[in-house]
Amino acid sequence: MRRSTRIAPSILSADFAELGAAVDSLVAGGADYIHIDVMDGHFVPNLTIGPAVVKALRKRTDRTFDTHLMISPLEPLLPDFLDAGADIVTVHAEAGPHLHRSVQRIREAGRRAGVALNPGTPASAVDAVLGDIDLVLAMTVDPGFGGQSFLRAQCAKIAALRARIDESGREIDLEVDGGITDETAAEVRAAGADVLVAGSFVFADGLEGCAGRIRRLREAAP
Ligand code: DX5
Ligand code: ZN
Repeated sequence: MRRSTRIAPSILSADFAELGAAVDSLVAGGADYIHIDVMDGHFVPNLTIGPAVVKALRKRTDRTFDTHLMISPLEPLLPDFLDAGADIVTVHAEAGPHLHRSVQRIREAGRRAGVALNPGTPASAVDAVLGDIDLVLAMTVDPGFGGQSFLRAQCAKIAALRARIDESGREIDLEVDGGITDETAAEVRAAGADVLVAGSFVFADGLEGCAGRIRRLREAAP
C-alpha cells in the first residue's frame, strides 16, 4: 500500500550552536520525523552527535526522533541511544556481524528498528530481517557528510526494496537519505520511497526558512 510522504529533516545541517532552536523550528515547520545523524569517526569519517545530545533534545518535543546510527562497533553504545529516547533506531547492515541481534535489542526496548544500506550494499541485505524491522533506509550518498550529490543509480535499488517491502505485507517505512532536494524528491518518491531525509536543502535559508523548504519537499513529492 502506498503511504503518504513523510519528511525527516536532518539536524546535521543545522548550526550545532543552536540545535535546540533547530529542532523547535523543524517541529513548528511540520517535520514528520527529526532525523539525527550519529557518526563515530570510524564507520564513517566524521564525528557528530552522542546520546547525551539526543537526551537533551528529547526534552524539547515528542515528535518522532529518527536516529541514524553510523557507528561500529554498535553493541557497546546501542543501549545508551535506546535510553536517550530515540523512537526509531536505525543501524547499518554493514556495521557488524550480528544484525539480527541488534534489531532484537531495539525492539525489546520498545523502539522501532531500522536497517540502513550503503549505496554499495545490495537490496538483498535486508531479506533476513525484513520480518523484524519497521524501516529500511536506502542511502543515496556514501554516509559521512551532508551536502553530497545524489547518487541517481540508487533509484533502481529503491524500487527493488519497495518490491520486497510490498511482498512482505508488513508496514515498513522506506526512507532515503542523501542529496534530497525538491528535484530529487520526486525521483525517489516515484521509485517507491515514503520517508525523505533532507539536511542541506531544509536548512539552506536558516531556521526561518525551514518550514517553507519542508513544504516544498512535500509539494514536490506528495
Ligand atoms: C549522510 C547523512 C545524511 C545527511 C543528509 O551521511 O546520513 O542524513 O545529513 O544530508 P544532505 O541532505 O545534505 O545530503
Ligand atoms: Zn542520515
